[in-house]
Amino acid sequence: MKVFGIRLIITGFTLRVSYCLWLGSYNLKYVIIIRIYCKWLVWYYRNKGNLGNDWGRSHESILHFRKSRDFIFNMDEVRIQYNNHTLKYPARKQAESSRFSNGKKKEFEWTPNPLGAKPKDVFEIPTISNGSWEKTIHKTQKPVELLRKIILASSNKESLILDPFGGSGTTYAVAEAYKRRWIGTELEKEYCLLIRDRISDQNQLERILSCKDEKDSQKRRSKLRGT
Ligand SMILES: C[S@@+](CC[C@H](N)C(=O)[O-])C[C@H]1O[C@@H](n2cnc3c(N)ncnc32)[C@H](O)[C@@H]1O
Repeated sequence: MKVFGIRLIITGFTLRVSYCLWLGSYNLKYVIIIRIYCKWLVWYYRNKGNLGNDWGRSHESILHFRKSRDFIFNMDEVRIQYNNHTLKYPARKQAESSRFSNGKKKEFEWTPNPLGAKPKDVFEIPTISNGSWEKTIHKTQKPVELLRKIILASSNKESLILDPFGGSGTTYAVAEAYKRRWIGTELEKEYCLLIRDRISDQNQLERILSCKDEKDSQKRRSKLRGT
């Protein structure tokens, strides 16, 4: 698995590319195991400048490992917006040869799911800006929206969530808001106090539940991009 670690660093593209590399050098068994039990997700953000003389960083990778094919995935909780084309022509007939016709003989009419499109493996979520409502003193604080997506997709009410690197407590605050049980640890006392305050702040938990900030942020981004 040492090699696996190196591959993770080398392959910044997609896991599919990594498969090809692994296939060339390693036992097929590993490739199959990784394909079934791991999904490579990308957290993509556009709001960080590039201060160096190199490719600027605008993503972080998240590896989603599963113990078996039977895992929690609440798709309806994390559906995304359809693209503009789909919204413009919502209902359409699929040709028999289309892979979306599911092999049906008759013409198949596709209509969008009212809850949105199926989620993709790249999430665009801005990093936390200085003036943001959720900003704390922690330097590597993760956005509520990122943890919301992960927690809602992969757990149910009363599920138990473990995050051993508490930091500002984003995982715990989102878990509290959505009535998940959680276990956490944090090395620094300063951050432990921060976490305590955060999870006992009812306004903050209600704000997380309302999703209002995320909706406003999405609207602002769409307006700026003219989409
Ligand atoms: C990247 S930050 C986590 C940020 C967090 N996800 C958030 O949203 O704020 C990692 C945290 O893990 C803590 N940490 C590092 N080693 C640890 C250890 N062995 N046990 C507990 N906490 C640890 C650090 O103090 C730091 O606050």
